[in-house]
Amino acid sequence: MMPWTALSDRERWALVFQLKSFSVRFREEKPAAAIRVPAPPKEDAALRQRGADLYHKLMCARCHGEAGAGDGVAARAYEGSPDGNVHARDFTRGRFLRGAEMEDLYLTLRTGLEGTPMAAYDVLRDDEIWALAAYVRALVRERPLYDFPPARTHARAPVTGERPAALVARSKPRP
Ligand code: HEC
Repeated sequence: MMPWTALSDRERWALVFQLKSFSVRFREEKPAAAIRVPAPPKEDAALRQRGADLYHKLMCARCHGEAGAGDGVAARAYEGSPDGNVHARDFTRGRFLRGAEMEDLYLTLRTGLEGTPMAAYDVLRDDEIWALAAYVRALVRERPLYDFPPARTHARAPVTGERPAALVARSKPRP
């Protein structure tokens, strides 16, 4: 799914309406209140360490693997599932459906990814969610997201860890 940057806002909304017409759920269900994403904290070693502790305590590794490579013991159980091809996301590759910024990961953890085994961790406090988000970002080893222009929904926060110079150069904001 590539970014459809050439579309106008009007065209984008028109497509949203078209997509929503494909499922009766949009007509029949009342949407829940929108989730407000608070300002993310500074990503530092202490936050990432807290995230690492929670990652193990909450058993994220059972699906996502110890090093975040999507190879946890439970991940195999989903292969060939009737719901289609389900893979626990491999964080090391740096590709995220919703996005890789702290705010994107916050939403993923608060709401889960409907239609996948990724549950909503809505019982966690904000500081716990931020710690997990920071740790997930620390597990990224490749940074393909810098090959694309950043999504326009959030201000960009610097990704932690070292980045190859070539990718840093390409990550400059585009007109
Ligand atoms: C029961 C297995 C399971 C557990 C446990 C689990 N996840 Fe997931 N998670 C998934 C699956 C499956 C996906 C990928 C869905 C897809 O890409 O279609 C996913 C996706 C994600 C994503 C990527 C979202 C995106 O935008 O692509 C993040 C981040 C994530 N999980 C974090 C976590 C964290 C942190 C924990 C622990 C608090 C956790 N997950 C626990 C199964 C799990």
